Amino acid sequence: MTIRDNCSLAGRNTFGMDVRADHLLEWSTPEELISQLQDIEKPVLMIGGGSNLLFMGDFNGTVIHSTISTIEVLGRTGDNVHVKVGAGVVWDDFVAWCTVHGLWGVENLSAIPGEVGAGAVQNIGAYGVEAKDVIDTVQTICLEDGSERDFSNSECKYAYRQSIFKNELKGRYAVAYVIFNLSGTPQPKLGYGALEQEVERMGGPTLGNIRQAVISIRDSKLPDPKVLGNAGSFFMNPVVTEHEFNIIRNSHPDVPSYPAPGGIKVPAGWLIEKCGWKGRSLGPAAVYDKQALVLVNKGGATGADIKRLADTIIGDVKKKFGITLSTEVNYI
Ligand code: EPU
Repeated sequence: MTIRDNCSLAGRNTFGMDVRADHLLEWSTPEELISQLQDIEKPVLMIGGGSNLLFMGDFNGTVIHSTISTIEVLGRTGDNVHVKVGAGVVWDDFVAWCTVHGLWGVENLSAIPGEVGAGAVQNIGAYGVEAKDVIDTVQTICLEDGSERDFSNSECKYAYRQSIFKNELKGRYAVAYVIFNLSGTPQPKLGYGALEQEVERMGGPTLGNIRQAVISIRDSKLPDPKVLGNAGSFFMNPVVTEHEFNIIRNSHPDVPSYPAPGGIKVPAGWLIEKCGWKGRSLGPAAVYDKQALVLVNKGGATGADIKRLADTIIGDVKKKFGITLSTEVNYI
């Protein structure tokens, strides 16, 4: 366990914001965190890889980060393999481990930045798969009383980029481990057209080919945070009613859409591009030129610069399409 005061967070957020925290606590076992809970200076902010945060300034409180980095096979039932993974494992290291061990379920989620604990909180998703599809149990510690609590998949109340940990229980439980239910037999999910084509081109749906195909599609569309600060999709794709969708389609017959629980999902990247923002800048903040859903720090941007751009885009999309975009990134 380490505790540091007046700690830089510059290397701990993928937007590259040069901010500081009054205290940083890194814990590598549940007991370590529990032993410190009484003394932690509030407020508390839990972070993983900092890939979904936008710091608006210094954090006057304690940032806590799990460094639990174990991956353990708990057992097999038929084709199902239960694997217990520490919250601090880098998400893509876990995906790579699954590929090496012949376990199916997370290969479509290759190369998503961040760590396993935060992935379970955010319900990360890509190419037709979400973390919730393979999560069995989320093991946590209550920050109020130090009790340990396991959340079953249904108790996590997962939905598109949502979970109980982002809503009713926000900030109250620290994830220690996530137990995944993976498959020992092939279960390729190639519903996303571009992925299927790339996998075919590579010679067929092996675990390794699917992982490499996802990595190459992501590389072609999404900026590397080490080169250009960003937090992946800045906005969520809005789910609109059929009535709202028909209004858009009347003026834009080419609008892409996907069926979604509660309505029709429209890609926010498309809406933003149609408002003329793709590749455009506002000061040091910009809309990425290959994927309009991603806002980037061109160098030296503050949280306020990025927020000004985001707010302007939200205003323009509302004016043109009547849809209010919500952010996927959390402002801190
Ligand atoms: N599109 C545009 N212009 C753009 C971007 C997208 O017209 O600048 C349209 C295209 O028609 C495209 C469609 O939007 O066919 C969908 O684009 P894409 O496949 O790139 O996916 P997305 O809906 O923009 C979502 C996730 C990504 C995930 C991809 C692939 C959200 C908020 N984002 O993006 O997740 O990688 O699907 O499954 O749901 C992330 O969350 O950080 C992230 C990158």
